[in-house]
Amino acid sequence: LKTTKNHLRHVDSMSTLPSRAGKITGLNAVILGEALASEEDDLVFPNDEFVRQALVPSPKKYLEMYKRSIEDPAGFWSDVASQFYWKRRWAESVVSENFDVRNGSVKIEWFKGGITNICYNCLDRNVESGNADKIAIYWEPNEPGSQDSLTYSQLLQRVCQLANYLKDKGVRKGDAIVIYLPMLMELPIAMLACARIGAVHSVVFAGFSADSLAQRIVDCKPKVVITCNAVKRGSKVIPLKDIVDASLIESAKNGVSVDVCLTYENESAMKRESTKWQVGRDVWWQDVVPKYPTTCEVEWVDAEDPLFLLYTSGSTGKPKGVLHTTGGYMVYTATTFKYAFDYKPSDIYWCTADCGWITGHSYVTYGPMLNGATVVIFEGAPNYPDPGRSWDIVDKFKVTIFYTAPTLVRSLMRDGDEYVTRYSRKSLRVLGSVGEPINPSAWRWFFNVVGDSRCPISDTWWQTETGGFMITPLPGAWPQKPGSATFPFFGVQPVIVDEKGAEIEGECSGYLCVKSSWPGAFRTLYGDHERYETTYFKPFPGYYFSGDGCSRDKDGYYWLTGRVDDVINVSGHRIGTAEVESALVSHPQCAEAAVVGFEHEVKGQGIYAFVTLVDGVPYSEELRKSLILTVRNQIGAFAAPDKIHWAPGLPKTRSGKIMRRILRKIASRQLDELGDTSTLADPSVVEQLIELADR
Ligand code: WTA
Repeated sequence: LKTTKNHLRHVDSMSTLPSRAGKITGLNAVILGEALASEEDDLVFPNDEFVRQALVPSPKKYLEMYKRSIEDPAGFWSDVASQFYWKRRWAESVVSENFDVRNGSVKIEWFKGGITNICYNCLDRNVESGNADKIAIYWEPNEPGSQDSLTYSQLLQRVCQLANYLKDKGVRKGDAIVIYLPMLMELPIAMLACARIGAVHSVVFAGFSADSLAQRIVDCKPKVVITCNAVKRGSKVIPLKDIVDASLIESAKNGVSVDVCLTYENESAMKRESTKWQVGRDVWWQDVVPKYPTTCEVEWVDAEDPLFLLYTSGSTGKPKGVLHTTGGYMVYTATTFKYAFDYKPSDIYWCTADCGWITGHSYVTYGPMLNGATVVIFEGAPNYPDPGRSWDIVDKFKVTIFYTAPTLVRSLMRDGDEYVTRYSRKSLRVLGSVGEPINPSAWRWFFNVVGDSRCPISDTWWQTETGGFMITPLPGAWPQKPGSATFPFFGVQPVIVDEKGAEIEGECSGYLCVKSSWPGAFRTLYGDHERYETTYFKPFPGYYFSGDGCSRDKDGYYWLTGRVDDVINVSGHRIGTAEVESALVSHPQCAEAAVVGFEHEVKGQGIYAFVTLVDGVPYSEELRKSLILTVRNQIGAFAAPDKIHWAPGLPKTRSGKIMRRILRKIASRQLDELGDTSTLADPSVVEQLIELADR
């Protein structure tokens, strides 16, 4: 039994060694039979009814498809790609890659020479194939009680009007557009309009500060910035246009001026009369866009032409502009969406992520719409007017697939079951989780209380860089283990390596890497291919390095254990410690700062900042607040430190390097596990820090 069970974990190596493939088959009987269920392992089986209708109903089916995707990636992916519209089919080689820095510059190309358009595939293709009147978007505003919606043909018309407007303003293929919008229907409309005309969108999450927005504007020099005047989240009004105004002043100081700021009037949050205005630059969306024709010719692009930029935090330096191209991303997001959520045309799908993050790109906009899905978009906050709002929305739209982040699950769990159980939720059939490891207790609550023990949970591991799901359950295919992202998606070959970069087999822990490219992989960091290689391909030559730690259990299930670099994952948002430190030290009274993550009950990780003040400055509550405010202003509210720890000095080695290991232990109050402090330049620093721990 044991040997048979071990096979799944070898699936990727076996797939490259087809002669051993016969061994896989033994697994099916074992994994679906009683044997595993009666073991200590915490296995949660999908129910029979679900399995019967599942796209991938057994490990056998998965293994067949997975094996083919690894042994014959060109055949596998060109079959998938053929379901889309291509103006011209790609050239002979489906994929061409150099994944190994030792062999020269890293280069990834999929479907090169193929001519297509992702907006056409999301909209026109669905309209033409009988889905014109199907709802594409249900929109739920911040205030309960009303709603809006667009069918696929209405959405196409809206997109065309905006695309025509942008063209009229001189936007051409390859030009950048910055979008700074909350979750209005205009956000996916703007993304799709850019894609339609071959413009490259850079969506900036509307929780980023003016400084962060300016940084992104300066980096890609957009012709147009698209925003709205304000948004209401819960009972708070956030004047987004003021933030854009400030960022445009800042950008101009850095030599980048933007000609057009297209502003949507979000009337329920703020009237246009109260909005500050710069005549000549600022234009009301409602005044111009609806005047344009509702059809717009598509700009046909190469599969490898850029689709969008999305900035993400790394362990050092400024946020990196992750660049995704068109063809591979299209094929990959569509396919991962379909299989990981067991998508059926009758589904109503709601992903709570904001389009300002990758999840909103791949799994609010592109993946679902490529499948012709009905998507729910929610403007507001999940605890407004009370913590039952999510389930109210689920019942209202009869949501069948609900995809969210562990941080929301934990916070709703804390608010109590009554908020959930007072709603029916009987439409739900698949749940999803993303952004950070989901702890087993949150998993169980999500499964038992929200899903009434009926709905499989797709715990999807992936990254901004990967474009789409990499390790994820396929609901119905195999039993789940609460807290494990289970097995790799088609075409993905995860490997776990040790410090030296040697691949480890079987049951083990180490650094999570990927062996060769997949269609949705990012192609470069905008304007900095060298950093692309240094960050992702040089740490373990021959592999893509994810920055995550991971273990694989005896049954081959993958368990993500969090970032192994200096990136903190706060409520599923990646924040570089260096970014927070640099914001803190810009405060005139801060001499030095060191930031680490610590375990946080709701957010997963919180931000813990050790701050050394300029000589002679006394500690005070006021100063604490002002330091936090500095970070909010420079990055955004979501990056505000949870804790400021006064530090007369920081633990450094003799060569001046801060020993974060010790700081992490102090932050988590594991004071008896500080380890060897004798190599510090001044070991007494540690005593002082412990003394000041709760001050
Ligand atoms: C973490 C979000 C465990 C991980 C899609 C990764 C996860 C980072 C999971 C990427 C998951 C994401 N289980 N950890 N299911 N999903 N992560 O770029 O540390 O915002 O490296 O992409 O989130 O964050 P990003």
